Amino acid sequence: MSIADEPATDLTLGERSAAHLWGHFARHGDGITPPVIIRGEGMRIYDDRGRSYLDGLAGLFVVQAGHGRVELAEAAAKQAKELAFFPIWSYATPPAVELAERLAAYTPGDLNRVFFTTGGGEAVESAWKLAKQYYKLVGKPMKHKVISRAVAYHGTPQGALAITGVPALKQMFEPLTPGGFRAPNTNIYRADDDLAADPKKFGRWAADRIAEAIEFEGPETVAAVFLEPVQNAGGCFPPPPGYFERVREICDEYDVLLVSDEVICAFGRIGSMFACDDFGYVPDIITCAKGMTSGYSPIGAMIASDRLFEPFRDGTTSFPHGYTFGGHPVSAAVALANLDLFEREGLNDHVKQNAPAFRATLERLNDLPIVGDVRGEGYFYGIELVKDKATKETFSDAESERILRGFLSSALFEAGLYCRADDRGDPVVQLAPPLIAGQAEFDEIEQILRSVLTEAYTLL
Ligand SMILES: Cc1ncc(COP(=O)(O)O)c(C=O)c1O
Repeated sequence: MSIADEPATDLTLGERSAAHLWGHFARHGDGITPPVIIRGEGMRIYDDRGRSYLDGLAGLFVVQAGHGRVELAEAAAKQAKELAFFPIWSYATPPAVELAERLAAYTPGDLNRVFFTTGGGEAVESAWKLAKQYYKLVGKPMKHKVISRAVAYHGTPQGALAITGVPALKQMFEPLTPGGFRAPNTNIYRADDDLAADPKKFGRWAADRIAEAIEFEGPETVAAVFLEPVQNAGGCFPPPPGYFERVREICDEYDVLLVSDEVICAFGRIGSMFACDDFGYVPDIITCAKGMTSGYSPIGAMIASDRLFEPFRDGTTSFPHGYTFGGHPVSAAVALANLDLFEREGLNDHVKQNAPAFRATLERLNDLPIVGDVRGEGYFYGIELVKDKATKETFSDAESERILRGFLSSALFEAGLYCRADDRGDPVVQLAPPLIAGQAEFDEIEQILRSVLTEAYTLL
């Protein structure tokens, strides 16, 4: 008997959750009980009321291979029986070694050194710490600042949060780690008309704002630029043409590290193992997590170039940083099994082949008056909602509260679609289904969105 069926209490799991479970980024209070998800199978998740939902967000941009993959569960069990835990603090374990080799083989350029963490925020934190220490070791000790983009989310540790560009998530924790500075993002939908009309010009303009920020802060003090291949928060801003080419030039010119934060975009989300390959640039560091195990066990990584590792191979210098559970053997074994599954089932090719159909299906929603923009790449899309399509007028704070939080999130779920209504920037609905999704799921997503967004418009 599962705990969900247990008659020990007449409270539902949701009510019991309200008593003790502290939800992340969640509201709590009278009448708020979270949905309780008890099972997953393929593209679908099931709650404790016996209802099923299409998983339109792969959990949280995580479950690339879909739910219920027995082989991934078995890989975890096999490794736990063999060696459940040992740290990689001056020791190594077979799965950590093999996974580091495997990730290095997938990365472009000379990104050959893998530092494991337990998740994405720790990978970002590790990348910043590495950038600071690296520049101290090579005689440029003033270099410590970081440039990132407006509205970008890079995690919650106080360093990663200082890189995050969402003021509302930071204010209550300030002062954060000093040294985080912002440049504009690549939201072409909200760019000035002359830039919006010419994506290449916009790309050049947006990249040059990074150069401007470096100049403004003083190049001798700037260590790194953190960018997602496709920025999530704000609702999926893809890079305009030429953007990353120009950013790479700028980073080289000023000796500033380019960190590709691929916590969401890696592992097939855009179509390649690492999304820098989708957009043709080679960063100095990649940060990744989420999809590495398809969520069957937690792990993250910061992958650095040979150049960055060079000062650490003299036999005495170490990177005084780590996590007990970083590179956990069970998670590493699951990641290896997950990557085997990716290869065997051709998940990345599946995304590349089906992404145009996903885009075309979502673009049908452009006929709705509340849909301002449909944007994204691969299996990663945002649909920006507006009050007035012609003027692009966005929601007021009160409307966001009423429509997004008060209506859309629960109405989409009740209609059978788990996805995300988000207003960290302008209001968007975000979609990132498991990579096994095909036309039938795209159609189901479109139909549910069409009916719920049509109703939402009547509430404005
Ligand atoms: C781009 C990016 N970086 C970092 C993080 C933080 O990852 P985690 O929640 O695993 O700490 C996220 C989480 O969504 C992310 O999207």
